[in-house]
Amino acid sequence: MRTQVGIVGAGPAGLLLSHLLHLRGIDSVVLESRSRRYVEQRVRAGVLEQGTVDVLDEAGVGERMRAEGLPHHGIELRYGGGGHRVPFERLVPGRAITVYGQQEVVKDLIARRLADGGTILFDVPDVALHSLEKDPYITFSGERLDCDVIAGCDGFHGVSRPSIPEGVLTVFQREYPFAWLGILAEVPPSAEELIYAHSDRGFALHSMRSPEISRFYLQVPPETSLDDWPDERIWAELRARLETVPGFTLAEGPIISRDVSAMRSFVAEPMRYGALYLAGDAAHIVPPTGAKGLNLAVADVRLLTAALAEFYATGSTALLDAYSGSCLKRVWRAQHFSWWMTTLLHTFDDDPYGRRLQLSHLDYVTSSEAAATTLAENYVGLPFDFGARP
Ligand code: APR
Ligand code: PHB
Repeated sequence: MRTQVGIVGAGPAGLLLSHLLHLRGIDSVVLESRSRRYVEQRVRAGVLEQGTVDVLDEAGVGERMRAEGLPHHGIELRYGGGGHRVPFERLVPGRAITVYGQQEVVKDLIARRLADGGTILFDVPDVALHSLEKDPYITFSGERLDCDVIAGCDGFHGVSRPSIPEGVLTVFQREYPFAWLGILAEVPPSAEELIYAHSDRGFALHSMRSPEISRFYLQVPPETSLDDWPDERIWAELRARLETVPGFTLAEGPIISRDVSAMRSFVAEPMRYGALYLAGDAAHIVPPTGAKGLNLAVADVRLLTAALAEFYATGSTALLDAYSGSCLKRVWRAQHFSWWMTTLLHTFDDDPYGRRLQLSHLDYVTSSEAAATTLAENYVGLPFDFGARP
């Protein structure tokens, strides 16, 4: 089998790349180790930056997102017995976020690729990358896929990044001493907007997927087992961390999904080795507090598409050569923002000094227009050319 771009992984990065390349007349094959059902049902974050919404819209895959996604023009920071809204409409006029589940983006992209005759192979075992310096190819379940370029879009635990020879990559990382327990519940959201709650019991987040479905997260110890969290304990803890302002009552309903996810900051540089280009979680991870993971993946594949389009149209490798450096500008900004939101809002053991700093910074962000604008412009997403040299 031969294609122009061999794509490993059918998450948001791999699927969107395949679609954007198709729009530029570039052929690709997507290889995914899990089943279609698995990738479509996997519950992940659900906040799309303005730029992400625009990319999906312009690529003609935004119809359901426009119909069912929930545009939000602010978030609440809740701490010290008060709620403080960060009003995007005033601080970053014309920019907002859209709440739309990542697995819905994945469903839309799969449907569109298949409708356009694209090739996505699911349940593909034993994917291996070969000859990355020249004439690369991918093998899987006894087959061989030759390609000009390989896009490693297989997430943090994929095979692409480990296929790069030792000594090439520099890894930067930070682990956090907590995890997030996430639930989906069949109950209307208890407030119209997201609530990021700082409390002495740990961080909590109120989010949603639709007018009927709420999404919540609790900061929990890293080794947490779901077995230790019967429904009543989850609701009691959410109440204790969120019902901290007068007049707010948490609406409860049947829990339909639950998960525990690790919190990690990670960047591997550069995002390229020979003919292999890494995109999305394969190259970088952020803790979810800033809601940046999916958005970074979209920004990466947007740049990779432009670079490959230029290469196929003119033979120039200028944009391909610039790919890693250009992505990393944005990646590091999101790394900082995600680390900052995480350290601002979570409880760290035995750190009374850090606790005071958090409260002081929360007071600043909720009272200074300048500080609030910094949060708002990062949250809704910086322009795609952020960090580009003139
Ligand atoms: N072979 C083929 N596919 C693989 C392999 C492999 N060896 N290893 C992993 N995959 C697949 C995974 O099953 C998954 O479907 O690669 C895909 C990677 O998708 P994601 O983990 O979703 O990563 P990405 O597409 O970069 O999406 C960006 O945004 O909200 C964040 O972290 C969240 O996943 C999200 C990310
Ligand atoms: C979500 O709705 O899943 C969500 C929202 C905001 C975040 C992280 C996750 O910061």
